[in-house]
This record gives sequence, structure tokens and C-alpha cells, in this order.
Amino acid sequence: MENIAASFTANLAVIILAAGKGTRMKSAFPKVLHGFAGRPMLGHLLAALQPLKPARTVVITGFGAETVEAYCNANFPGCEFVRQTEQRGTGHAVQVCEPLLGNHTGPIVIVYGDIMLNIRPDVLPTLMAAHQKNATGLTLLAANLANPAGFGRLFYDHGRLVNIEEKDCDDAQRKITTANPCIYAVDGPALWPLLKKLQPNNAQGELYLTDIIHLAAEAGHGVVMRDVVAERPEVGVNSRTELAAMDALWQARKRRELMDSGVTLIGPETCFFSFDTEIGPDSTVGPFVVCGVGVKVAGTTTINAFTHLEGTAVGAGAVVGPYSRTRPGTVLADGVHLGNFVEVKNSTLGTDTKANHLSYLGDADVGAGVNIGAGTITANYNSKTKQKNRTIIGDNTSTGSQTVLVAPVNLAEGTMTGAGTVVRKNTAAFSLVTDAREQVIKADYAKK
Ligand code: UD1
Ligand code: CA
Repeated sequence: MENIAASFTANLAVIILAAGKGTRMKSAFPKVLHGFAGRPMLGHLLAALQPLKPARTVVITGFGAETVEAYCNANFPGCEFVRQTEQRGTGHAVQVCEPLLGNHTGPIVIVYGDIMLNIRPDVLPTLMAAHQKNATGLTLLAANLANPAGFGRLFYDHGRLVNIEEKDCDDAQRKITTANPCIYAVDGPALWPLLKKLQPNNAQGELYLTDIIHLAAEAGHGVVMRDVVAERPEVGVNSRTELAAMDALWQARKRRELMDSGVTLIGPETCFFSFDTEIGPDSTVGPFVVCGVGVKVAGTTTINAFTHLEGTAVGAGAVVGPYSRTRPGTVLADGVHLGNFVEVKNSTLGTDTKANHLSYLGDADVGAGVNIGAGTITANYNSKTKQKNRTIIGDNTSTGSQTVLVAPVNLAEGTMTGAGTVVRKNTAAFSLVTDAREQVIKADYAKK
């Protein structure tokens, strides 16, 4: 793959079609920003294209252009944009790129923003390897699908490769199972003259990019088709049902990848991961665990059932859950234990620290060997000043049950707090802090 990428690196351009509304999503948001595994479809696609190191990446935007462009700028800087103000078809979309890429001399890879086949690591190398041998022509991929309904079909007509859209198919053509995922590599100088020949003489009255296939052959260019093994949702996500199917496919692969790398998943089909989830070997993940974006788990950890992690680093040998929730900015050092109904946000917990029951630790720097008693919470938010404040808890501190730590506050090393204490002042090392008043017992009081 490195070699394939390297030989195109100097002068490869990529075009991504992302102007459509995605009517079938029934959404106020552009289709390509809908996603799975913590990332929009367009993000999965842009990430998959990165190994090709394209010199230029042009995203065609239209519906929701500003949001789509903002997403690209924030996450994949360096993209260029062309606005297709009126969506007159996939061929028209590429025509609109001519002012930017009309003089491009190298190959151009064209993909659609909703074709998730691109996220498979084998797909683009297959395309590029074939195109290397067909450098001045058109190279495309085909996917054989058990159910190709809705997709363009590819077939040879008098030896010439042709695409026909489903809406233009006759009964025999509809039975063809070779679907067109619309992943092309085409020689830059060859592309623009072909696009000028497009005609809207089809059922949808649009300019179809797919017509460049037969037009390329007619113009004498080499047209090469390679098969890729694909499942239906990878070939196009047009509805929320297809998006869910794509997610399911992606999750199944991710689970397999984790298990193959030495992670035990108990009830794998109930665990959900994000595009960037990392879990080290000899870790065990229990059922119904969700890893949101930004989760990095070291080896030999145990993540027990019903745990929800997000933006969290977990150290080796840690035990998290059942029923723990960690939010962004959480760092759990080696050997940390988090138990049921413990929430941690934007906090660091030192080595071997334990918070086993019913706690909230927000904006806290907790040292090593600390024991957080049941029901301990950091009162990190001051509703008057509307500010969040930090709580610092020194090594080997131990908080009694129901301790409230009113931030900003600093518990020095070895502090102990009594049950029910509200700590408002900084403590000295190894001190005991209580605010318990003497207990009043009124005999027979309850009999009245
Ligand atoms: C298209 C293909 C079909 C292929 C299928 C694969 C054509 C004519 N048809 O059909 O052969 O099997 O994808 O999923 O190409 N877009 C624009 N501007 C437009 C029209 C579309 O940017 O004017 C974008 C859309 O945002 C989308 C992509 O192009 O990302 C494909 O459009 P879509 O309407 O989903 O095409 P399909 O009907 O799926
Ligand atoms: Ca589509």
C-alpha cells in the first residue's frame, strides 16, 4: 500500500461528492454528516483517503455547505471546496470542479460521500494498483451484491462496459448483481472532455457521472474494472436503516479486530466502539459496554458490564464498572478501581486509587492510593459564579461516606474525612476532618 500510495502521491487529486441533501435520511442536516462509530460518514471517508496522500482534496458541497465545510476544516484541514448550488446529478457535480482541477495532469480519484466501502483498507489500494497499469484511462471498482436494488448495474454490452441506473433498467438488467459503488480513478486530462459529453437523457433527467464509463471506452481510453468483495451497506448509505446496517457491519469488524488482538469481549454483539477506540491485550470487556470517542485502554484491564466511557485513558490492570460512567478528560492510572454508579469527568485518578460506589468526581486531581468513600462527591460547580473549580486530593487520602468536597479545595496527603463531612477548607497532611455534631438521641420520641 505504501508503494502504491507513494507513486501517486506527487500528483493525485481526490473529488468527493457531498452536495446532495440525502432526501431519504429525512433530516435537516446534510447526509454526509450523519455517521457511526463517533464520526460522520464524510470523516470515515476522508480518513480512508489519507494513506493515498492526495495533493489536493476537493469536496463538492451544496446542501448544508457551510456545516460540511466547517466539519472538514476542523477535522481534515487542507480540503478545498466547490459549491454545487443546484444539484443536477453526479456528473454535473464533477463538472463544477473544472475551474479547480481543469489543469490537473495527474490521476483523479472520484468517490461519493455516502459510499462507505471506502473505509475498508483494501479498497483504495485495489483501485490504485489497477489504475497504475491503466494510467491514461478510467479504472473503476465493482461490487457483487446479493441484493443490488437501488444501485447502478455494470455489464458488458458488445464488449464495452456500461453502467445503467436502476431507474433506467429493463427487467433483465435489473437482475444483474454487479453493482457500481462509484469509486473511480481517471486520468485528469481525460476526464473533462468526457464530462462535456454527458446528456440528461435518462429517467431522472440528470447528468450521470456513471455515463463516463461508456464514454471513456468510446473515446478510446482503457476502461478497467476490478471487483471488490462488499456488503450492501458499504456500497451506499441512503437512509437511516442503511446507516444502522453500516454501523452494525463496522462494529462487527471492530469487535473481531479487538478479539484478534487479544481482547476478550463477553457478549461482543452488545459492546460498541468508536473509530478511535484502543484496547490493549489481555483486557476483558463485559457485556453492554459503550466506548465513545477518545477511549484508550491499556492491557490487562477489566471493563465490566454496563459501563459508558468517553474521552478516557485507562491504565493497566484497572477495573472499571459495572455501571461506571467516565466523561471526557478522565485519566485513570494503573490499577484504579471504579465501581457502580461512579461518574468521573475531567479528572485524573492516581495509581491504585479506588472509588467503588456512588460517587461523582468532576474537575479533580486525585493522587495515588486514595480511597473515595461511597457517596463522595466533588461540588465542582459554583452556581453563583457559574464557574467550575478543581478539587485536589493528595495521595493516600481516604474520604468517608457522603463526603462533599466543595471546590476549590485541596486535601493534603493522607487526609481522612469523616462520614457526611462537607469539606470547605484546605486540609493539612494526615489530618482528620469531620463536621459531625454530637448525635442527639431523644428516648421514646417516636412513640408520640
Ligand atoms: C449513485 C450512482 C449509482 C451507484 C450509487 C452507489 C449515479 C447516477 N448513480 O446513485 O450508480 O450505484 O450511487 O451508492 O451516479 N451528489 C451531488 N450532487 C448531485 C447529485 C448527487 O453531490 O447533483 C452526491 C450526493 O450527495 C451523494 C452522491 O453524490 O453523496 C450520490 O448521490 P445519490 O443521490 O445518493 O446517488 P444514488 O442514487 O445512490
Ligand atoms: Ca447514494
